[in-house]
Amino acid sequence: MSHWQNYPAQWNTVGPPLRTSPEVVSLMQDLTGHPLGRVLLLGVTPELADAFPRVLGVDKSPDMVRRVWPGDTAEKKAVVGDWLEIGEPSQSFAAVVGDGSLNNVAWPDEVSLLMRQALRLLRPGARFACRLFERPPDPLSWDDLAAAGTRPATVNFHAFKWQLAMRIAEDHGATLPVTAILHHFDRLFPDRDALSERTGWPRRAIDTIGVYRGSPLVYCFPNRAEFLSCIPPDAKDISFTACGTYDLAECCPVLSFASSR
Ligand SMILES: C[S@@+](CC[C@H](N)C(=O)[O-])C[C@H]1O[C@@H](n2cnc3c(N)ncnc32)[C@H](O)[C@@H]1O
Repeated sequence: MSHWQNYPAQWNTVGPPLRTSPEVVSLMQDLTGHPLGRVLLLGVTPELADAFPRVLGVDKSPDMVRRVWPGDTAEKKAVVGDWLEIGEPSQSFAAVVGDGSLNNVAWPDEVSLLMRQALRLLRPGARFACRLFERPPDPLSWDDLAAAGTRPATVNFHAFKWQLAMRIAEDHGATLPVTAILHHFDRLFPDRDALSERTGWPRRAIDTIGVYRGSPLVYCFPNRAEFLSCIPPDAKDISFTACGTYDLAECCPVLSFASSR
């Protein structure tokens, strides 16, 4: 079973930072100007599907479309497809939005391609807005990460998992196979019952990391400079907006830019 086939089953057990939050949704509505026209959603994030009146969701996982998308209506529809190959006409969307979408492709080539694709699809003056998982200038050290597993946790398990991924990305490059996250986690914490007892992370939450076993997926965790290097030169009015108070929110700004008028 593939990663995104396993993932829908876990959907209801995860929250921010893996999933979006109400403040982020409201920021994305504001940044994009509450568009009434068609919005392209990069994925099937239900909170973003609900945030706009006309939405086309695109996700390459049929299981995610079937199990996570809230359902087609007259004005909202999800299709199975690859963001890097969306064939919709240029300038046909009033906004392009996503939650973590840019982290789901490889940096730098696919991140650049996806941003160019978004810009192509935007109507003149319309905006792209996407929550990022952005590697901080100084990710936790390996010692910090190991120490976090010896005492009551200060962040939820999923936030910790991203802190670990950001360390790996700092050492080995922004793009990493998700199997590397599992590998380093198992190396640091071979005894999950003991980890659960010491940190207070429920064993059920810890075990969600098993979805990475044998997965062919790569994620990327670029830092600010690495994201900036991928933004097309003709993008206008670029902003990174901090938003939310959930665990790891400081690493999850919303990137936005506009197409030329
Ligand atoms: C949008 S991202 C991140 C999830 C997000 N935090 C959320 O709560 O919606 C995850 C989705 O991206 C999809 N995906 C990853 N790469 C893709 C691509 N190149 N084209 C289309 N869908 C893709 C996956 O199938 C998955 O459903």
